[in-house]
Amino acid sequence: MAQEYRLILKYADEPGYTPDIDCYLRHGGYETLKKALAIAPKTVADGKTVSGPEQIRDDVKLSGLRGRGGAGFSCGLKWSFVDRRSGKPIYLICNADESEPGTFKDRQILHKDPHQMIEGMIISCYANDVKLAYIYIRGEFPEGARILNRALAEARAKNFLGKNILGSGYDLEIYVHRGAGAYICGEETGLIESLEGKRAYPRIKPPYFPAVLGLYQCPTIVNNVETLCNVKHIVAMGASEFAKLGTPNNTGTRIVSISGQVKKPGYYEVEVGKATIGQLINEFAGGLLDGRKLKALIPGGSSSKVFKAGEKFKLKKKGPDGMDIETEVEMLDLPYDFDSLMAAGTMSGSGAIIVIDDSTDIVEALANLGEFYAHESCGQCTPCREGSLWMSKVLHRLTHGEGRKQDADYLVKIADNIPGGRTICAFGEACSWPVQSFVAKFKDEFVAKGEADEKRRAAQTSGASATPELKIAASPQSP
Ligand SMILES: Cc1cc2nc3c(=O)[nH]c(=O)nc-3n(C[C@H](O)[C@H](O)[C@H](O)COP(=O)(O)O)c2cc1C
Ligand code: SF4
Repeated sequence: MAQEYRLILKYADEPGYTPDIDCYLRHGGYETLKKALAIAPKTVADGKTVSGPEQIRDDVKLSGLRGRGGAGFSCGLKWSFVDRRSGKPIYLICNADESEPGTFKDRQILHKDPHQMIEGMIISCYANDVKLAYIYIRGEFPEGARILNRALAEARAKNFLGKNILGSGYDLEIYVHRGAGAYICGEETGLIESLEGKRAYPRIKPPYFPAVLGLYQCPTIVNNVETLCNVKHIVAMGASEFAKLGTPNNTGTRIVSISGQVKKPGYYEVEVGKATIGQLINEFAGGLLDGRKLKALIPGGSSSKVFKAGEKFKLKKKGPDGMDIETEVEMLDLPYDFDSLMAAGTMSGSGAIIVIDDSTDIVEALANLGEFYAHESCGQCTPCREGSLWMSKVLHRLTHGEGRKQDADYLVKIADNIPGGRTICAFGEACSWPVQSFVAKFKDEFVAKGEADEKRRAAQTSGASATPELKIAASPQSP
C-alpha cells in the first residue's frame, strides 16, 4: 500500500487546527522565518562571502524543488534568472489563481493553513531581496481572499511583515490582489498585466520573461502557492533532507487533486514518484464506482494529454550499473512524477487527475472541455482565438445530432494548426492537446457519432444527400 506523506498538509485537516496565527504559532509557525533571518554570512573556499539570502537561494536549487503550478520548472533555477543588477526593485507574486480545471489543492492551503504559505513567501522574498510582494487570487475565491487578508494583518501585528521584521533590518509588505475570474489570469504574464490593472493579455516572450521584465517592467518572480510552501520546508529541514523526499529529480511531496468517477475524490499528498497512478486512484481515491471500468484518465489538469485505459509506454530506468534499461509500463503503473508522465507523452501539470469511467461519452467530455477553452481564450492570437472556438463548434455539432464522420479528422486538423510557436502563450497548447489526444485515442467514437448523425439525418430527409451541407451550429458561448 502506498502511503500519504503529509508535509504541507500536515496539520490542515487535524481536528481543532484553525487558520489563525495563534494556532499556527502553537504548531511551530514562523520559527523557520526566524531561522532564515538568522543565517549568518559564510566564507567559502575561494574566500568569497555568501550572504544568508544567497545561501537560501542555493539551498532551494540544491533541494531540486520544481514548480507546482504546471510546468515543473526548477524553482532555484528560476530564481537564478532574476536580474539583480538592474537597480530596479524585485517583486514576487504568489500565483493563487488555481484556474486549471480539476485542480483544487492550493485552496486547501489558503483556507486551512494560510500562514504556512505566507511564511514560505516571506522567506522567498527575503532570499530574493524583495520588498513588495503580491498574492494574486482568483475572483472566485472570496473566502480565500478574506482569510489571507486576515492572516496578513495578523502577521503584520506580530512584525513578521512590515518594517524591520523581527529586528533584522529587513522590510517587506505583501498585498492580496483579487482577479475578476479568468483562466488566462493564471498564466504568469497575463497575471502580471492584470495586476497592473490591465486586461490579462499574456505578454510576448522574449523580452517579457518575468525574471527580467515583469511587474512594472521590473524583475519579478512568479511562484505557485504550493511551491512557496515548499520553500519554508527546505529551509526548515535543509536542502539535502528535503531532497531525500520523493525520487531523484522529482523531490519533495505533491498534493494531487483527484476528481471524476472515483469513490473518494479529494486531495492526497504523496512523495513525488512514490505512488503510481493506479495507487492514487485505487488506494487513495477508493477506486472506481461499483460496476464501472476505467476508460480514460486526464493526468495533470484538463490541458494535459489524456491516457486511454490499458495504454503501455516504454520508459528508461537506470540499472544497477548506471546504464539505461528500457521497460514497458502500463499506464496505471506509471509513477506519478514529472519525468515519467513526460516520457509517456503527457504531463503531471498542476497535479490534477480526472478519472473517466466507461459510462462516459468521450465526445461529450471533450465537448465540455472545448467549450471551456473557447470561452477562456483571451483572443490575442488568431490561431488560438479562432481555433478554440472552431473546435468547440465542431464538438457542439457532434454532440447535438449535427455531426459528420469526417469531424474527427477535421478537429485534429484545426488542433494541429494552433500550437508549435504560433501563439503568444501556452494556452495554444493547452486547448489543442486535449483535442489531439482524445481524438487520437478514441477516434472510433468520434467517427461513430458522426456516422450515426449522418445516417439519421439521411433517413429523416429521404432522398436528400447523406452528407448535408456543412453547417456549424452556434455553441452557447459564441462571442
Ligand atoms: C493558461 C495557463 C494557466 C495557468 N494557470 C496557473 C494557475 O492557475 N496557477 C499557477 O500556479 N500556475 C498557472 N500557470 C503557470 C504559470 O504561468 C507559472 O508558470 C506558474 O505560476 C509558476 O509557478 P511555479 O514555478 O511555482 O510552478 C498557468 C499557465 C498557463 C499557460
Ligand atoms: S495563446 Fe490564446 S490565450 Fe494565449 S495569448 Fe494567444 S489568444 Fe491569448
